Amino acid sequence: MKFMEEKKGMTPLSVLDQPKVEFEEDKVLYTNRIQKFSDLGYTEITKENFLEISPAPWSVDFQFTAVCNQHCSFCSYEDRNKHLKKNSYGLVKRVHKDLIEMGTRGLIYTGGGEPLSWRDEGKTIKDIVLEQNYGIQTKPSLVTNGVMLNTLISPEIISKFHFISISVYGHNEEVFKDVVKVNTFKLQTKNFKNIMKLKKDYNLKYPEIQAKILITRENYKYLAEIYNFYKNEIKPDHISMRCVNNFEEGQDVELLPSQKEELKEIVKQKLDINEAYVEDFLNSLLPPPNLIPATNCWTIKLGHNLLISTLGEVYIEIPYGATKEYCIGNLNEKSIKEIWGSEKHLEVINMLNNRMTSLGCDLRMCRHHKYNKVMDDYLENKTLTPASSDFDLKHGYYL
Ligand SMILES: C[S@@+](CC[C@H](N)C(=O)[O-])C[C@H]1O[C@@H](n2cnc3c(N)ncnc32)[C@H](O)[C@@H]1O
Ligand code: SF4
Repeated sequence: MKFMEEKKGMTPLSVLDQPKVEFEEDKVLYTNRIQKFSDLGYTEITKENFLEISPAPWSVDFQFTAVCNQHCSFCSYEDRNKHLKKNSYGLVKRVHKDLIEMGTRGLIYTGGGEPLSWRDEGKTIKDIVLEQNYGIQTKPSLVTNGVMLNTLISPEIISKFHFISISVYGHNEEVFKDVVKVNTFKLQTKNFKNIMKLKKDYNLKYPEIQAKILITRENYKYLAEIYNFYKNEIKPDHISMRCVNNFEEGQDVELLPSQKEELKEIVKQKLDINEAYVEDFLNSLLPPPNLIPATNCWTIKLGHNLLISTLGEVYIEIPYGATKEYCIGNLNEKSIKEIWGSEKHLEVINMLNNRMTSLGCDLRMCRHHKYNKVMDDYLENKTLTPASSDFDLKHGYYL
């Protein structure tokens, strides 16, 4: 049996400063879904067999509110969030109960919008986390700009999270502000230092805390300085980097071709990462345009990801997010149990899979692409499920 030679653990989106087990894409095999599909001899996913293989979305991106305390130049939700709507406390509570019962493993509290600015009936994310009985299967995680992180800084709350990703943009006030258009550098930095201190003081293994550097037209020239600042001053568990993309129609924020070339040189000459890793790093940071697609979008077909918008709409999580034609239901009208595996859900799965197989997806922006390749490899006997003892280490809750 031939095994995958490349296991650098990088998606085409975020790249770590060094290969890390946590990001190895073979963790998708923990869901056991492609194995089941193959063992049961299925050749297609149908309304009849979907729930047998995929009783719940494995990972859910839960967007709480469209409101945000920054105005990032590159925000992929700028347009979609103009309504400033939020999910109600009642909806959040109901959906948590259902998803935990169904067997969802990872709940990712995220946006568009800043999840920590959500408030309804006097409740905040802190209350949601404290009130939840996640059981042993399900873990929450958080993607935040960190400005209101102080509201969570206590060991009882923080230790419930498996993963916290803090989006960062600059090594000083000036560069930071140039990207986020408000003066949040000092506040975020203070919160970031405090959460790292708390983790150390209480000797907490989790949450794993990441600084995610968003590389934009405003800050790409300073990537090396930004990286050094977080590495040396903040010392998160790891640092990832990502170039912003154009997600919304008419959005124009991606680095220009000449800026991408300049960035490559900066990485080669100034970024303090292992030299032997630079080529792989660049291939993931600035993926080539013509990536070869997998045979199927297995990630979608096997119900791995779901997104709940700030309007209570349910989508299969894809880079092009909340395009209305792909909406599979609304949680203000139906429960997630009714929506999951419905006719509409299967119809959208097929639409999206057809789009991918007819080369309609920009795979450079797709976080499912590498998982799909792993599942193709599995079907061709080229790879095995990773050891179950590594589940926590590999962040098996999140895909
Ligand atoms: C939409 S935000 C929501 C959570 C929170 N407000 C934050 O910014 O961290 C989720 C992640 O997407 C990133 N993001 C937003 N717009 C993007 C874009 N155009 N390209 C790539 N990443 C983007 C954010 O920086 C953040 O890391
Ligand atoms: S902090 Fe997040 S949601 Fe807010 S503007 Fe920036 S990217 Fe968008």
